[in-house]
Amino acid sequence: MLKLGVNIDHVATVREARYRGRVSGEPCPVAAALACEAAGAHGITAHLREDRRHIQDRDVLALREAIATRLNLEMGDTPAIVRFALRVRPDIVCLVPEKRQELTTEGGLDVVAHRRSLVRTCQRMRDAGIEVSLFIDPELRQVEAAAAVGAQFVELHTGQFAEHFARLRGRKRELARLTAAAHQAHALGLRVNAGHGLNYGNLTALHAVPHLEELNIGHALISRAMETGLTRAVKQMLQLMKGYRP
Ligand code: PXP
Repeated sequence: MLKLGVNIDHVATVREARYRGRVSGEPCPVAAALACEAAGAHGITAHLREDRRHIQDRDVLALREAIATRLNLEMGDTPAIVRFALRVRPDIVCLVPEKRQELTTEGGLDVVAHRRSLVRTCQRMRDAGIEVSLFIDPELRQVEAAAAVGAQFVELHTGQFAEHFARLRGRKRELARLTAAAHQAHALGLRVNAGHGLNYGNLTALHAVPHLEELNIGHALISRAMETGLTRAVKQMLQLMKGYRP
């Protein structure tokens, strides 16, 4: 069965837009995570970025305490964040490239170029009992390097697939790249996840890709939740306003 990991960064993005610098505020990523679990999600993903633009350290600590499924900590391979991960002990870390200027994680990790550091980080995580996934573009040399540095999982970057989904030729090309990368990863003993840009329109096309275990999805889910949840939210507010007597 294909598993769903919900990326709850976007919940924190909304909170930080109003309550940046405060120790609490709504919406609460932990409450959102618990709702996702209650709805059947198999795991919760949170990205602790260097600039702390959405998820904060306290969110990760609270998620670690509160959730019953798996915690996937997305992070850059930097000394301070690696130390934090070793302290929090998520079930799995997903190492991603980190550029402060980018809006979201734009490309996969260049495992070939960062081989030495990744070997060390993978080993430290493994020693602490934390699984390691590497977020990579669906390129064979990156898959090979991921196996060589000692990761257990790759998360195939589906951003290009999502980007080219509307055009049949581009969609087929990207599905072929994902399929080849998934085959190669499986053959090298890696487990295969995927994510980025997946939504209600493009998801089922991904069924063509073999060996997938888990999809990490954020933006589309949180967007849909806002749209479908607004009806209830407005009704609740109107109910409170009914008590007004001029
Ligand atoms: N996987 C990784 C490694 C990501 O960086 C992101 C984006 O935060 C996602 C999955 C989820 O992407 P989206 O929000 O587009 O569903």
